[in-house]
Amino acid sequence: MNGRRILITGGTRGIGLAIATRFAEDGDRVVIQYRADREQADDALASLPGDGHLALACEIADPDACRALVSASVDHLGGLDVLVNNAGIFETLDLSGVSYEDFLADWQRTLGVNLQGPACLSFLAARHMIEGGAIVNVSSRGAFRGEPHAPAYGASKAGLNALTQSLAQALGPRGITVAAVAPGFVETDMTREILAGPEGDAIRAQSSLGRVARPEDVAQAVMFLSDPRSSFSTGTIIDVNGASYLR
Ligand code: NAI
Repeated sequence: MNGRRILITGGTRGIGLAIATRFAEDGDRVVIQYRADREQADDALASLPGDGHLALACEIADPDACRALVSASVDHLGGLDVLVNNAGIFETLDLSGVSYEDFLADWQRTLGVNLQGPACLSFLAARHMIEGGAIVNVSSRGAFRGEPHAPAYGASKAGLNALTQSLAQALGPRGITVAAVAPGFVETDMTREILAGPEGDAIRAQSSLGRVARPEDVAQAVMFLSDPRSSFSTGTIIDVNGASYLR
């Protein structure tokens, strides 16, 4: 594709940056959203091929900030063709030891970023996809397999899958497709510590390919789902987990 207008949340590192790079390589213009690290955002922006890209700060759990993000993105790009809801947080807790207050705070933070944020952004972005468009959500294998040490995360991603399916049905008549990718472990900042630790080898052995995913593996699926030629795959959830969990 060429010349499309793309908004990618969490687009300045990890999976989001790999996705932004693929779109930019295709000649599309991207807005990459980040939370707070301006220096990282500047580096990410400088690394993208092509012109006309922009990095914007936004707290995804804040509905007003989401409104401002979509509005500024549309102003910069002159419209919107694709939204990729990639930003997310993964927090672990020990259910038997954690206080109720800490449990609740984790629940609210995680659902705010991983589910409410994508819901708000999808609602707002769809209003600007006048001639149709695509929304791709970055979910997780944990939505299907369970997350015993991160129950809010598992629930948030299962909710994101359900949101994907509902919006695919609701927005289809407006020419907007909605789909998701569900990665297993991916080599990023989010997982660096656990993959480098004693559990690393066992995690890599979960896949018959003997490795975890690279951010580029996830970007590949996002490119497929955002391509108008894939429109009949709306509502689908693509596993990117190296056969580590088959459903
Ligand atoms: P990462 O931690 O490297 O990047 C996450 C991005 O989200 C960052 O750019 C961060 O600034 C942004 N973000 C986090 N909280 C935010 C907030 N409150 N407001 C605005 N932006 C915020 O993570 P990674 O690994 O690249 O993950 C990207 C997506 O992939 C996430 O949704 C994650 O749940 C999902 N995923 C990751 C897996 C992994 O093994 N790394 C596995 C399955 C899914």
